[in-house]
Amino acid sequence: MFALDAEQAHRATIRALGLLPRRGLPVFPPSLASEVAGLRFPSSVGLAAGFDKDGEVPDAMLSLGFGFVEVGTVTPRPQRGNPRPRLFRLAEDEAVINRMGFNNRGQASASERLRERPRRGIVGVNIGANKDSADRIADYVAGVAAMAPVADYLTVNISSPNTPGLRNLQAGGELVELLAAIAEARVLGGPPVFLKVAPDLEPGDHGPIVRAAIDGRIDALIVANTTVSRPPLASRFAGEAGGLSGAPLGPLALDALRTFRSAGGGALPLIAAGGIASADDAWQRIVAGASLVQLYSALVYHGPGLARRIADGLAARLAERGMASIAEAVGSG
Ligand SMILES: Cc1cc2nc3c(=O)[nH]c(=O)nc-3n(C[C@H](O)[C@H](O)[C@H](O)COP(=O)(O)O)c2cc1C
Repeated sequence: MFALDAEQAHRATIRALGLLPRRGLPVFPPSLASEVAGLRFPSSVGLAAGFDKDGEVPDAMLSLGFGFVEVGTVTPRPQRGNPRPRLFRLAEDEAVINRMGFNNRGQASASERLRERPRRGIVGVNIGANKDSADRIADYVAGVAAMAPVADYLTVNISSPNTPGLRNLQAGGELVELLAAIAEARVLGGPPVFLKVAPDLEPGDHGPIVRAAIDGRIDALIVANTTVSRPPLASRFAGEAGGLSGAPLGPLALDALRTFRSAGGGALPLIAAGGIASADDAWQRIVAGASLVQLYSALVYHGPGLARRIADGLAARLAERGMASIAEAVGSG
């Protein structure tokens, strides 16, 4: 796969996953099961958004050992995304830079595909706004209506750096307005709604985001998306524009997680993403307050068996400490 251009390699991977024979869901050690936002997760290790943007292979990814899979980001209308190249492997840094720009076939297409799958295993849907949308809040409201019927949870993504201005929705009044509109669009008995934030916030931003999320009935916060910052990098692609993910994002995402944990005091469940590549990384996020973790970039460097290896490593850490469940470990550090 490393001989191919990064985006071609990704397409080939999705195609190959689509050809895998259907298998059942894996069985995880019982200690890994946990309840978050009213959903029962069989393992705390999930696939982050962006890998399966159009919801083509969620069941294959579940069967490979993820405890939950987040598809998307899907926007109301299909869009092509940014010109290529727009995806770069920074192998020396175990990192990725992407400026995909929400390339996806649109919500109607994803919803049709997801409607046909067996509803086994947790599949969340990450929703966003079209780049040329005149009313971004209306795009999220449309996303809730279109995707709630086929999603075990929804993620409101306001933290992609590749749609100009999108991250402004994280600021004060805009966020309150967005979350009020989303709360109104939700129907009784519908899926929980998570909010995905950037790792690049200013020190005073975390408290107001947590308050707006709680007031807006958000069920969990995903911390975090890719970063526009550039910690020291060795790869020749370091200067490419876009969001950086993978190992160098780890310390920033952990910092952001800790700040959100102290701002929320445990009142708002947290889901950690960013640079998680081992059971040690996952454990560190859990003891720092994450109820669940997600990963994407590490798959490129560590292969599809990674989710299962991390899950087994977490179960071993629980056993070593005499803990019966992940819930006991959350925020214990
Ligand atoms: C190629 C690529 C595409 C991504 N696309 C999305 C996306 O569409 N929506 C989203 O919320 N996050 C997207 N992300 C961000 C990931 O979901 C995740 O938050 C981030 O990469 C940090 O995790 P990681 O270091 O394990 O990759 C994308 C990441 C990558 C590498």
